[in-house]
Amino acid sequence: MSSNDRVIIFDTTLRDGEQSPGASMTGEEKLRIAKALERLRVDVIEAGFAIASPGDFAAVKAIADNIKDSTVCSLSRAVDADIERAAEALAGANSGRIHTFIATSPIHMQYKLRMQPDEVIAQAVKAVKKARSLCGDVEFSCEDAGRSEIDFLCRIIEAAIDAGARTINIPDTVGYAIPHQFGETIRQLLERIPNADKAVFSVHCHNDLGLAVANSLAAVVAGARQVECTINGLGERAGNAALEEIVMAIKTRQDLLDVHTRIETEHILSASRLVSGITGFPVQPNKAIVGANAFAHESGIHQDGVLKHRETYEIMSAQSVGWNTNKMVLGKLSGRAAFRSRLDELGIVLGGEAELNAAFARFKELADKKHEIFDEDLQALVSDTLAEDTPEHFRLVTLEVASKTGEVPQAQIVVSVAGQEQRASAQGSGPVDATFKAIESIAASEANLQLYSVNAITEGTDSQGEVTVRLEKGGRIVNGNGADTDILVASAKAYINALNLMQAGTKAHPQADGV
Ligand code: KIV
Ligand code: ZN
Repeated sequence: MSSNDRVIIFDTTLRDGEQSPGASMTGEEKLRIAKALERLRVDVIEAGFAIASPGDFAAVKAIADNIKDSTVCSLSRAVDADIERAAEALAGANSGRIHTFIATSPIHMQYKLRMQPDEVIAQAVKAVKKARSLCGDVEFSCEDAGRSEIDFLCRIIEAAIDAGARTINIPDTVGYAIPHQFGETIRQLLERIPNADKAVFSVHCHNDLGLAVANSLAAVVAGARQVECTINGLGERAGNAALEEIVMAIKTRQDLLDVHTRIETEHILSASRLVSGITGFPVQPNKAIVGANAFAHESGIHQDGVLKHRETYEIMSAQSVGWNTNKMVLGKLSGRAAFRSRLDELGIVLGGEAELNAAFARFKELADKKHEIFDEDLQALVSDTLAEDTPEHFRLVTLEVASKTGEVPQAQIVVSVAGQEQRASAQGSGPVDATFKAIESIAASEANLQLYSVNAITEGTDSQGEVTVRLEKGGRIVNGNGADTDILVASAKAYINALNLMQAGTKAHPQADGV
């Protein structure tokens, strides 16, 4: 295939994905996800919005310094300060990209930017030139292109390419497009813009009407050669196009989509689980490719057909996206070498010997409680071990819960607050309620509990429970996670994790204000 048959996969899980309410990630978690994306062979990883906060800057920098096989990108508004900060964060990258954007729809230009169209073009040109003076690889996005006028898009894109942009991104920012119309927009842009051949055309579709993947594929058919997407379709509001769906549609329908990606699809499932575990956003069972039921055949007729000939009811194999490749992996007798090698296979890289030792000690503890350790257990265990390394204001010391038929459940808890142990007890309508009330009587956070969910990480009653707690305070939302074979301990850990996230500072939203 020629290079024109290759679709560049640009993953924005760490930037747009993190804009999902409550999906904030620590720098260490972002680096772990970036490594999983590199293992998947994603072409471009949008690591964040460097100017948003010192934490975002540090995360983009750490990813730029550590990722070698993917281009690392930082978002920036079309202003000098953002672009300079992005360039600074990307300085150590093997291959870095500055992604600068400005809104181009009449509604955004009039109400958000309060700028005339010609001023917007001038600002875009200035930003692209500035970015090119600091980085050889510059992407320019027309925010809200899905609702922009095509004549204006042609003018601003031609000017951005002349100024040095080598990727032009057409975002459907509010998820308004319909596949045939969006495909036609891309076709017209490629036809009408005189210097279109000097740039790769990209799309970035949001899923407000559930059409993000369909719109992205229509754009590919029309000639777009970069798709911006996220693992599990994470992203602002209803999310972005799901990477796994885009990649598998291209792979499965070669008869219609005569293009390819370089994604190693057998790593899709572990990346999906990693992102879900870290963000606390569960994957719905019927989600395409990575949902628990995606390859499960319930009806007898289907099961019979699949057993006789898999293709009767399956259009791709479960193994090709990472299912069924990892049954029982480790157990009580497994040694350090087996443990380390399985972490390597999963793409989990621990900082050094001390972290490996801490994770191995936890693994032995878990193996005493649970005989078979699966990949999902290892991922949760590593998350827990690394979370302990980060300075925490609140830390669970002990928890004792009494629950008996006919009696009111009671929890007694010891929590370390900034290094000082504090005790509390509380009653509740159930043991989890009593535990949370006991924690709150110490923390007095006054946050609202918006979501409490428990998932079994693996099969069987000895599975670890993975708990997500979503807290809201003053409009700020955080998701805390905790895993343990005891779901009350997992619940307490998740609540305390959410309280610690609440303590962390806020950061700027790239699309919140004008330039
Ligand atoms: O949705 C959008 O328009 C974006 C841009 C910043 C690319 O996320
Ligand atoms: Zn977006």
